[in-house]
Amino acid sequence: MSFKAALEADQEVPESWSSYMTTVYRSRKPPTIGSYDPDKLEAKGREVTKKNEAAFLYVFGSAGSCSTDRANRKAFERWYFTPKMLIDASDRNLETTLFGKKYRSPLLLAPIGVHGLLHPQGELCAATAANKMGVPMIMSTAATRSLEDAAKANGDGPRWYQLYWPRSEPLTLSLLSRAKACGYTACIITLDTMCMGWRPYDLDTAYLPFNHGIGIQVGTSDPVFMQSQGTTLRADEQSPYKGYEYDKIPYPFDPVACDFAREAGDEFHTSLKSLGRNWSRQIHSGLFRTWDEIAFVRKHWEGPLILKGILHVEDAVKAMKAGCDGVVVSNHGGRQVDGAIPALIALEKICDDPRIRRAQQEGNFTILFDSGIRRGSDILKAIALGAQAVLLGRPYMYGLAISGAQGIEEVVRGILCETELTLGLCGFNSLDEIWGKREKVMDKIELGFYS
Ligand SMILES: Cc1cc2nc3c(=O)[nH]c(=O)nc-3n(C[C@H](O)[C@H](O)[C@H](O)COP(=O)(O)O)c2cc1C
Repeated sequence: MSFKAALEADQEVPESWSSYMTTVYRSRKPPTIGSYDPDKLEAKGREVTKKNEAAFLYVFGSAGSCSTDRANRKAFERWYFTPKMLIDASDRNLETTLFGKKYRSPLLLAPIGVHGLLHPQGELCAATAANKMGVPMIMSTAATRSLEDAAKANGDGPRWYQLYWPRSEPLTLSLLSRAKACGYTACIITLDTMCMGWRPYDLDTAYLPFNHGIGIQVGTSDPVFMQSQGTTLRADEQSPYKGYEYDKIPYPFDPVACDFAREAGDEFHTSLKSLGRNWSRQIHSGLFRTWDEIAFVRKHWEGPLILKGILHVEDAVKAMKAGCDGVVVSNHGGRQVDGAIPALIALEKICDDPRIRRAQQEGNFTILFDSGIRRGSDILKAIALGAQAVLLGRPYMYGLAISGAQGIEEVVRGILCETELTLGLCGFNSLDEIWGKREKVMDKIELGFYS
């Protein structure tokens, strides 16, 4: 029964993203995350990790002066909706089709490394929450769990894989084949992190978890990588590979304690450090790939192939010409290039290009977006500018830090509830009605930058 029919028959309305608001009010309880307001959520994330401040700062911090991170969010304030009245928007949905598959919403969990800094179960929380909500998780190559374990926790939920492109071809092929074997349906290659950006928040305490072997567990569960390190992993039906405790990592992670353990002769920490260094040489090696090399991954990945970190119109066109199925317009949350263009402004420019628009409309190319999404209205603005879906980043990590899978769920349900309510209150029933139609939906207010 539709929402409208249920209302007219005075019956309980069917569940939707927006019915979460009713659930919240009826519960008479605050959320475990403390607040649905993104700034308060961030503050609570900081508070609960105060004994582990460097871990919080690793997530919170950006490159250089953090100007791009700030500008990412400010860019959303250039656009304002013009709601229309007396339009029947009772039966709304946020359904979105990406690469031929229908999803319940246009939101995916962005690939974010080292969840294990904020929660002992690491990426398993995101995998479980993603399954429960039917929201895709994008598993990072810098995870603290194996691809296989995250896939198991995600069950029949939707999942994609994000590749940090290793230097070694056999290792690249191994990661792609593992991702395929355990049900990751799309592959995102992140292009903006061939080396890490200059991040003062982490540099000031010389805090880099990978150097201690934290966030390398996709590597320590990989037979090709481990063979290159002199350890042979045996395939096993229950867990991916036996013979090495690839996911035994300290929580909370304390680099001083790790140093101390190593100095005291602890073999586990000694080997983890050496594996960390060697994995980083593969993943953030400083080797800058070039456009002609995309053909290699294209040849070995049959599913949708997406390039993340695109900010220039011509790069989006090159991605299309290289046979990719889409791009993520993103500046990595301002963590790589301080002073990089706000991602939303890049999105406007890219979606204005007639070659891109045509390919999108013909169903041959998909534009995804991240960097600065904090609210439901941000999602609708990105879609009205031409994005087909968005990736949620830091907010779900704060949810994870506060209350694990439940925290992630509250963050996502809150933001999608707000999205659906705002859609209806503006006079629309579906995302198709607003996709790429910025003039119909919004007005632009010039704030004095990038006008
Ligand atoms: C702590 C942290 C780790 C990240 N790790 C990855 C990663 O492993 N792979 C990747 O492609 N992007 C990574 N990103 C970037 C996110 O995918 C996304 O682009 C970014 O979080 C968007 O910015 P926002 O969180 O400010 O909205 C990371 C971001 C953060 C905050």
